[in-house]
Amino acid sequence: MEYNQTFFDTYLERRGTRSSKWDGCNARFGVDPSVELLPMWIADMDFRSPTEVVEALAQRVQTQAFGYTTVPDSFYDAILSWVERRYHWKIQKEWIVFTPGVVPAFNVAYQAFTQPGDGIIVPSPSYYPFFDGVRNNGRKVAACPLVEADGYWTLDFDLLERQVKDPDNKVLILSNPHNPTGRCWTAQELERLGTLCAENGVILLSDEIHADLIMEGGCHTCVGTLSQRIVDNTIFHFAPSKTFNLAGLQTAYTVIPNPELRQRFTAAITANRVINMNWFGQVALETAYNQCEGYVDALCRYVSANMDYMADYLKENLPMLKMRRSEGTYMVWVDFRGTGITTEEIERFIIHDAHIAVDLGTWFGAGGAGFLRFNLACPRMLVERAMRQLTQAFRHRELL
Ligand SMILES: Cc1ncc(COP(=O)(O)O)c(C=O)c1O
Repeated sequence: MEYNQTFFDTYLERRGTRSSKWDGCNARFGVDPSVELLPMWIADMDFRSPTEVVEALAQRVQTQAFGYTTVPDSFYDAILSWVERRYHWKIQKEWIVFTPGVVPAFNVAYQAFTQPGDGIIVPSPSYYPFFDGVRNNGRKVAACPLVEADGYWTLDFDLLERQVKDPDNKVLILSNPHNPTGRCWTAQELERLGTLCAENGVILLSDEIHADLIMEGGCHTCVGTLSQRIVDNTIFHFAPSKTFNLAGLQTAYTVIPNPELRQRFTAAITANRVINMNWFGQVALETAYNQCEGYVDALCRYVSANMDYMADYLKENLPMLKMRRSEGTYMVWVDFRGTGITTEEIERFIIHDAHIAVDLGTWFGAGGAGFLRFNLACPRMLVERAMRQLTQAFRHRELL
């Protein structure tokens, strides 16, 4: 199948399909169901999954029975080959532990590698379930605010160094590429961070769920390609769910090269008996990884062009909003601080005046105030609609 502009331009009606993004939107934002919100929140896409995947799933349905499933070698082979082809890292089958999602997997890692009361370092702003998981498990968040200059976010290594040296902190979790700022951390940044962790006995959780979503000009470095010392101290989280729009099929995998850390992680997995695999997720992963590389490349080109469109539009029409194109992820992190209104007002304005549902900056912890995260994995016409709604709302409020 050829994935061209028309494929991604095509509007897919997701209302009425039990989509969290569309059907769960008004309830999530506390807005009356009669109001039409444009959903640009939550990280799933308004594009069809690859046709090959849809067909393979349809074939699976023909079996007419959906009981427990074995995990064939072909599942692992698809992962080994994808990780080598796309992330340039050669891994072994024994290192792979499949899980129903990256969020459950890092929660298991919190349990496996820390005790109640221990600190978990979270560079912030960050994907908010990182914080929820720490708190839900009775651990403590050690937030490490990123440093921002002209929309470019970097790690504060001085603070990080103090945090990894604090014996209370046992784990650091990093989204690589970074949700929400869209940074692809460089090999130098990761090497420095990974070394600090390894030298101080802090286990690194590298959440690489967005590793395939590299925008034009961006470059992903998989932590697995760094020095052996770092690799031996890292738990890697991957999934095909963001890349191919498969989040509802709940299939992810954790890679742990170090046998001692793997044993601790699998013990926690086994204690919870999270040992069965989703019948459909398995076939979707194999098909996507084996047959749909062209989809990913075309997708990244399309979303990059959405980012160009939005950045140009804002520059010309709403210059008080600052947006930098993301290096990775299909989201953009837009700075609304130049509007001169309070964070609370900004978050009210986008939902109740502009009628656009986005992830609110304050959800992402320290450093998120005044920012909003827009999901641009949608047909261009929806980005255009969002820009119109935003402009009208600013005019209406006489803020333009
Ligand atoms: C950094 C990051 N990790 C994990 C997830 C979700 O993982 P899963 O749906 O596999 O639990 C997301 C979804 O947005 C994410 O951005």
